[in-house]
Amino acid sequence: MLVILKRDNQEVNEQAAQLIAGAIRKNPSLTLGLATGSTMVGLYRHLVRLHQAGSLDFSQAATFNLDEYLGLPASHPQSFNHFMHENFFRHINIQPRNIHIPDGSVRRDYDAYCASYEQSIRAAGGIDLQILGIGRNGHIGFNEPTSSLASRTRLKVLSRETIDDNAKFFGPREESPRCAITMGIGTILEARKILLLATGPPKAAAVAKSIEGPITCAVSASALQLHPDVTFLLDEPAAAQLTQREYYQRVLEMTALLTPDRLS
Ligand code: GLP
Repeated sequence: MLVILKRDNQEVNEQAAQLIAGAIRKNPSLTLGLATGSTMVGLYRHLVRLHQAGSLDFSQAATFNLDEYLGLPASHPQSFNHFMHENFFRHINIQPRNIHIPDGSVRRDYDAYCASYEQSIRAAGGIDLQILGIGRNGHIGFNEPTSSLASRTRLKVLSRETIDDNAKFFGPREESPRCAITMGIGTILEARKILLLATGPPKAAAVAKSIEGPITCAVSASALQLHPDVTFLLDEPAAAQLTQREYYQRVLEMTALLTPDRLS
């Protein structure tokens, strides 16, 4: 596990964009796992900027989003589908057929739908690089606390904390969704490489538990300790409760010296 500490949100976004751009330049047909949420807005802005400057080509890349609210059609302004198109896809040259986002409008046969999403990930050769945010309760995707660490793409009931956190994106009279379709923790752990971004003080406790706490279904992101190639990219406020910061810094310096490929 690599823990990269940056000063602020801006530096986290820049570094994340550089890492993703480097991966796409190395492998133009990269399959990216993508996340939504306010943490990702700045990252997508940076990637769009690199694309517009002519230094990043998405024409062969494919993407799979982690999750979508159940009951929201793609056109709903609060759907993750809408978020992705507005913040990212409509500004880059990705081919529409290579974009995959769980369909929040499915009404029955949920298991069959979720199995088909898993199947399309497999058919694409698996996810090369999975980008993650983290919820205040340690969720990744919408894998709320007590999610099975072996879970696959499925329907998930959202926790009260998540519903409250996301209510700000909905109108005062609008009810925010109670359920979502999300890749499972098992699905996420199959990605070849994982990059988790966290910024701001509200994430500090979840980040510390995920990196330094025990592996537990009470903190879904702690399952990332089981993955051989995870990078946590954090700003200072999000890293505030980590106890081994000096060690992470030394690991980073030695990695840059001995295996610089891991950082590009
Ligand atoms: C949502 C998404 C997660 C995201 C998290 C954090 O619930 N399902 O994938 O990581 O919220 O969001 P934010 O970046 O807005 O704090």
